Amino acid sequence: MARIAYVNGAYTPLKDAFVHIEDRGYQFADGIYEVVVRVGGRFWDLDGHLARWSRSLKELSIAEPMSERALRLIIHRLVEKNRLGDCYIYMQATRGVAPRNHTFPLEGTRPSLVMTVKPLDMNKLNANAQKGISVITEPDIRWDRVDIKSVGLLANTLAKENAKKAGSGEAWLVRDGKITEGGSSNAWIVDKSGALITHPLGHEILGGVTRQAVIACAEKLQIRVIERAFSVDEAENASEAFITSATNLVTPVTAIDGVKIGGGKPGTVALRLREAYIAYNAG
Ligand code: PDD
Repeated sequence: MARIAYVNGAYTPLKDAFVHIEDRGYQFADGIYEVVVRVGGRFWDLDGHLARWSRSLKELSIAEPMSERALRLIIHRLVEKNRLGDCYIYMQATRGVAPRNHTFPLEGTRPSLVMTVKPLDMNKLNANAQKGISVITEPDIRWDRVDIKSVGLLANTLAKENAKKAGSGEAWLVRDGKITEGGSSNAWIVDKSGALITHPLGHEILGGVTRQAVIACAEKLQIRVIERAFSVDEAENASEAFITSATNLVTPVTAIDGVKIGGGKPGTVALRLREAYIAYNAG
């Protein structure tokens, strides 16, 4: 079945889904996005993703394209129209279409809203987690407001492309000797005492919705969580490492720059947290 996208008020076959060449998202990366998964008929952490959606828009002074209620309706409709089971939902809003000029367009420019969906293979994700992934480190050359989920992802794509070329699943970004996060995920290690360590919230990382849920899961499991920056050296000597994101859930990391972590096998703490995170969403 041909996939259907949502573009500024219309449901359109994906092959015909276009935006204007003067859309500010296209010319200035002047927009934001969210990725949500739907598994087993439930949208995972949708409230958290919609809250961050609104926050990102507010931080950039982009008007909400529509009410949260209407947004939820479109998400549901789009999944229905595509007759998908487990899937990824991509939603993006930009400041809209206006003649190219760096400063904001005059009032009356409406924000653009597009959405696409694609199938998600839970079996493949699970197989990935059982095996674990390797990561490489890359310099964090991004701007200073990566807490905003902006579509300006060039630095992330360059880092992730290097990871792919190295046969790795993710790039861990390093700023001032400390790992901030992954190219499209949050980064975690487990120390010798079994405590979780992850970079604190702030302008240097995206406040992952999965990160927040995993902190709640860890608290339930009585696993200590320490929110502080950690170095590459600390990571290479950790008991375990893992990443979190809407699309990877909790995925163990078994090597950093070729250095094996936890004997090169997925760690038990990471796998427990993955299970707890899945249970938390499955309800
Ligand atoms: N990325 N950090 C970065 C830089 C990210 O791009 C993401 C998510 C995360 C994790 O956030 P969350 O847990 O809310 O998914 C952290 C999405 C999945 C993407 O760009 O495809």
